[in-house]
Amino acid sequence: MDKILVHGGQRLSGSIRVSGSKNSALPILAACLLTKEPCIIRHVPDLSDVHYMLQILSHMGAEVERASGTVTVRAEKIKTVAPYDIVRKMRASVCVLGPLLGREKEATVSLPGGCVIGDRPIDLHLRGFEALGAAVRVECGNVKVFAARLKGQTINLRGKFGSTVLGTDNVMMAAVLAEGVTTIEGAAAEPEVVDLANFLNAMGAKIEGAGTRRIVIEGVEELHGAEHSVIPDRIEAGTFMVAAAIAGSRVTLRRVVPDHLKAISDALIQAGFGIETARDTLTVVGNGKPKPVELVTEPYPNFPTDMQAQMCALLCEGEGISVVTESVFPQRFMHVAELKRMGAQITLEGASAVIKGVERLSGAPVMASDLRASAALVLAGLRASGVTEVNRVYHIDRGYESIDDKLNGIGAQIERVKV
Ligand code: UD1
Repeated sequence: MDKILVHGGQRLSGSIRVSGSKNSALPILAACLLTKEPCIIRHVPDLSDVHYMLQILSHMGAEVERASGTVTVRAEKIKTVAPYDIVRKMRASVCVLGPLLGREKEATVSLPGGCVIGDRPIDLHLRGFEALGAAVRVECGNVKVFAARLKGQTINLRGKFGSTVLGTDNVMMAAVLAEGVTTIEGAAAEPEVVDLANFLNAMGAKIEGAGTRRIVIEGVEELHGAEHSVIPDRIEAGTFMVAAAIAGSRVTLRRVVPDHLKAISDALIQAGFGIETARDTLTVVGNGKPKPVELVTEPYPNFPTDMQAQMCALLCEGEGISVVTESVFPQRFMHVAELKRMGAQITLEGASAVIKGVERLSGAPVMASDLRASAALVLAGLRASGVTEVNRVYHIDRGYESIDDKLNGIGAQIERVKV
């Protein structure tokens, strides 16, 4: 198991090329199961979560080829059962349910594992499948969905924590091959949902409204093969934006969609940093200590929960008191205990972290607990005095392509040590 040593105090400057989006690539790869014809997906990031998804597709009977960032999937004949030992490593494996149900009208998938960020139900996904006419059974750790035929319906997918990203993806992927028209109300509007809808449309689906709260899907008989380039990863980009704010003078991110980064940019501007954008680049201009901010995580286009931990790391060395409230995953604060081991002054009040800025964090051995929390610890180490030792790095490798090499490329001093 690797660990990462961050030698704090280096000034970052230069540019980083952002990888393809993990959260787009995973459902898009799953969507390749919807057709017998080959699909070619470009800008697929090299991450362990992507490897798990490719393993699942192979297990389901698809032929999978990968040449650097391009993946070709040909799912001529497929199985409909995804067992525990294949899906347990990644929560997003649940997004094979939709395509299997759409194409084969049945799927049995073991209930997902994945990030430790509280209870992660799939009731809304199942509610959507049921509305399309599928029966749902949960037994022996598996969820089984099956239908004689799927019929379009109006479905409200809004839950008590707002919209669901993978739930919207899953229902959309089943509905593209249903009879008639499906309307998803309360749909997630994340750019990754739009990317999936664009890919499905390239395969011959008829989807309108992706990116809004109402998605309308006119079912078609069958889908064909297609080529697609995955959008840039806005969370990877956001993580490097915060790295630049913590320790940077001037850092430019290449291959980004600045529009997707608006909420993160606004938060950094509010904290006193400069943001310059061009067509597909974004530059963060360092400006010393952040000013205090009040932030609430919410579904897109508001501030993303996947950037909450990184923002907390930044605000630990801010001026005054900041408040960061988590409204999407109210228990997502595993990084707080670790940041406190580095000298941060944070109090948890319900779903809010109240952060009193300190002069400087100090390096310490810390434990990565989930993907974004781990990234936050690496970022905190960039300016901390001494060495921050981040253990259980496999969490970071699930969602960041060579985070150490990319940060070292702009002046950080990060070592990866095999233990
Ligand atoms: C996706 C992202 C994840 C991100 C999250 C929220 C992927 C692979 N992962 O996860 O990085 O943090 O969106 O932006 O794209 N909920 C229910 N019932 C359900 C489904 C969800 O109550 O059936 C709740 C969740 O517990 C959470 C909220 O809805 O409180 C949002 O979750 P959701 O958008 O579904 O997250 P994921 O799609 O799993």
